[in-house]
Amino acid sequence: EKGGYDHFMLKEIHEQPKAIQDTYRGRLLREQAIIKMSGVEDNMKRFLNAKRFIIVACGTSWHAGLVAEYIFEDLARIPVEVEYASEFRYRNPVISEDDVVIAISQSGETADTLAAIKLAKSKGAFVFGVCNVVGSSIARETDAGAYTHAGPEIGVASTKAFTTQITVLTLMALRLARAKGTISSSDYRQHLLELEMIPSKVERALLSDPLIEEIAYKYKDSRNCLYLGRGYNFPVALEGALKLKEISYIHAEGYPAAEMKHGPIALIDENMPIIVIATKKGHYEKVVSNIQEIKSRKGRIIGIVTEGDVQVKELADHVIEVPESSESLSPLITTIPLQLLSYHIAVLLGKNVDQPRNLAKSVTVE
Ligand code: F6R
Repeated sequence: EKGGYDHFMLKEIHEQPKAIQDTYRGRLLREQAIIKMSGVEDNMKRFLNAKRFIIVACGTSWHAGLVAEYIFEDLARIPVEVEYASEFRYRNPVISEDDVVIAISQSGETADTLAAIKLAKSKGAFVFGVCNVVGSSIARETDAGAYTHAGPEIGVASTKAFTTQITVLTLMALRLARAKGTISSSDYRQHLLELEMIPSKVERALLSDPLIEEIAYKYKDSRNCLYLGRGYNFPVALEGALKLKEISYIHAEGYPAAEMKHGPIALIDENMPIIVIATKKGHYEKVVSNIQEIKSRKGRIIGIVTEGDVQVKELADHVIEVPESSESLSPLITTIPLQLLSYHIAVLLGKNVDQPRNLAKSVTVE
């Protein structure tokens, strides 16, 4: 059932090229330059009239929501707020009939997310669900939605659910951007083309597995770890840190790279591994100068870089290369080495990767 892999998590990490493709199959019609999503099409008026989108989710799904915030604002020019469902539901939020609430959930059963949906509905908002489990409570409770087609995710640590959520949300953003006229026809076509190239790029990113295992061996006994990224890759840094925490029990934090000097830099010494997402597109020079700051404080640097990178290679202790992509799609690729790094560290430490202590696959109580 694990398809020859030692753990479900590793199997699911490797399933991502196919899961992403399954998620856009039938929806992305590149030759006609069309994105077909009935849940969006049938409610186009509500989407286009929305003053803002409010995304509600928990955990990894919340991180996918943060990536979506960048995509929706960047491409479709729609203001987006991303909320932890648990906070949203209890703080008397301002919601109106002009709001579109997007709930993201792999399981479709998360209690806080479900409660946030009910609250939003009671205020007259239009609620759209992005779920993986067909027929789940959240899928039933929402006004409309789009499924991710990741297939069953068994490992407690979410991997393919995350990348397929980003895939669905990217399709939505592109469709809405086209409808609103906030994207040019050529940019739109270029995005469709690049999205179709993602599965093979993820496949290539997976080839770094043996190198990542070596790096994992060097850092497995660390007590703390920092993950840094900027722009679209800031949420990826958060997700990388969450993955490490939940399966290896090593304390990790994700930060926007520029925030480092406002506090976390005090933690840096020769025992602190810092994983920095430093791909070519998107604030590269700025990230390089953040890396220089870490280096001068003797931090150990693991760079996630674009193939052929020169600058970071000179500064970092290790680099893991990933294929080049547009900035907006890069989270689908940069997240892969971070998943593998957590996986290998947890395995080397002898942890129960698929069922980490204290965690459940779906959190049906608040
Ligand atoms: C992390 C993880 C959790 C879930 C969170 C939300 O790997 O699995 O953080 O992402 O409990 O779950 P869903 O997406 O099912 O609502």
